Amino acid sequence: MAVRLSFMLSNKCIISVFTLLIVLSQYIDCNQAARLDRRESGIRLPTEKDEPVDVDQEVVTRWAILVAGSSGYGNYRHQADVCHAYQLLKKGGLKEENIVVFMYDDIAINELNPRPGVIINHPQGDDVYAGVPKDYTGADVTAENFYAVILGDKNKVKGGSGKVVSSKPNDRIFIYYSDHGGPGVLGMPNMPYLYAMDFIEVLKKKHESKGYREMVIYVEACESGSIFEGVMPNDLNIYVTTASNAQESSWGAYCPGMEPSPPPEYITCLGDLYSVAWLEDSETHNLRRETVNQQYQSVKKRTSNFNNYNAGSHVMEYGNTSIKGERLYLYQGFDPASVNLPPHNGRLGALIEVVNQRDAELFFLWQMYKKSEYNSEKKREILRQITELTRQRTHLDGSVELIGTFLFGPSKGSSKLNILRAPGMPLVDDWGCLKSMVRLFETHCGSLTQYGMKHMRAFANICNTGISEATMEGACIAACSGHKVGLWHPSNKGYSA
Ligand SMILES: *[C@@H]1O[C@H](CO)[C@@H](O)[C@H](O)[C@H]1NC(C)=O
Repeated sequence: MAVRLSFMLSNKCIISVFTLLIVLSQYIDCNQAARLDRRESGIRLPTEKDEPVDVDQEVVTRWAILVAGSSGYGNYRHQADVCHAYQLLKKGGLKEENIVVFMYDDIAINELNPRPGVIINHPQGDDVYAGVPKDYTGADVTAENFYAVILGDKNKVKGGSGKVVSSKPNDRIFIYYSDHGGPGVLGMPNMPYLYAMDFIEVLKKKHESKGYREMVIYVEACESGSIFEGVMPNDLNIYVTTASNAQESSWGAYCPGMEPSPPPEYITCLGDLYSVAWLEDSETHNLRRETVNQQYQSVKKRTSNFNNYNAGSHVMEYGNTSIKGERLYLYQGFDPASVNLPPHNGRLGALIEVVNQRDAELFFLWQMYKKSEYNSEKKREILRQITELTRQRTHLDGSVELIGTFLFGPSKGSSKLNILRAPGMPLVDDWGCLKSMVRLFETHCGSLTQYGMKHMRAFANICNTGISEATMEGACIAACSGHKVGLWHPSNKGYSA
């Protein structure tokens, strides 16, 4: 008995000495890494001063809101971007309770997903889906919930986990959004769209309530610059970058048949150009040293596809640009494993072949068509879907053009609808008018859909030229009665009026 006890004791002892050694060796490892770092780089190491601690030494919380605004397998990439962002922030030490995720969540389980339960955001990428919290999914991914979450208003959120950003005056907030957009609007998988002015008003309210110290916002969408151009104040302590300027597309990346292309079993794009540019930049640098500005510069270069604007876009910045001088980890956290990575320009990433966001959906259906069995019923069905979508596009384009003709005359219609305002001017002066004009159009001509968002500038210009709602209604009826079509949409696999 005694022998046995002493054996057990010594065994335990051995184990604890062993544990101690492991702990020690880890400690030594870290210190060694730090020393090496100091010797080799000659760059100032992060000091106590860099810690996110406020004047009263109260630890400051980092918050994040991640939003994928689309649904459907053809839009795989937006939810993949957002899941990837979650993994990055989590590795950086942000707590799950401080990261709010909006995603429709129909990708991992999608019947078209060749790797069930897995989402990737790079051709050779690991799963980014596991562990992503399902805060707001399906019908709960709405602009209204997004606003309530920003404002920390638990009573206003409908459905979902109820998680909101209940931030304090010294906290920092990072918002990242990825989806389709159009002039003045960002898409949401559930209507209505997010309108620029509503979003800006929410940010102003958050600022008035002293709900944060500083905020950084990244937005990927077509015409995403138009969300902030001429309407984003610079005194809210918010710094914004967008994937594109106010009048151009943003781009899908890692698409089938393009370079670099996804594994052959994928018929959809895995990411978006601006999004993978910032995510991959963050993953390959030491975020305690890289500044927000350095990331902006790298992402700008890569998103332009190295100055090829036929297949790239202009990354824009808005708001208070003083914030750019800060280090990224204040928003995105810091992964201890990245301590030896360079602060900047370690790797810029390669050229990526891309597809226009608006054509990505058709491109996806075309991939499905090509892959399906020759002469099968499925192949014919996919072709029907493609022709239905192209017919819908023609209908939308034609209706808007005809309305322009009625309102401004045959020779001036198109040019009036497409007026580009000077840089720094907002898309529209009266945002309420813009919403009304869109409502009138949809009532008489059918839903604008993801594609039709590109016509938002036409409605804005109708407002800017002072056309009355009554006149607009007449023009919509004239252009569209008898032509309002049932609109097929792949995300709901059905027709909606
Ligand atoms: C911009 O941010 C800096 C740093 O936080 C701040 O000192 C400055 O007052 C801000 N500028 C404006 C116009 O609010």
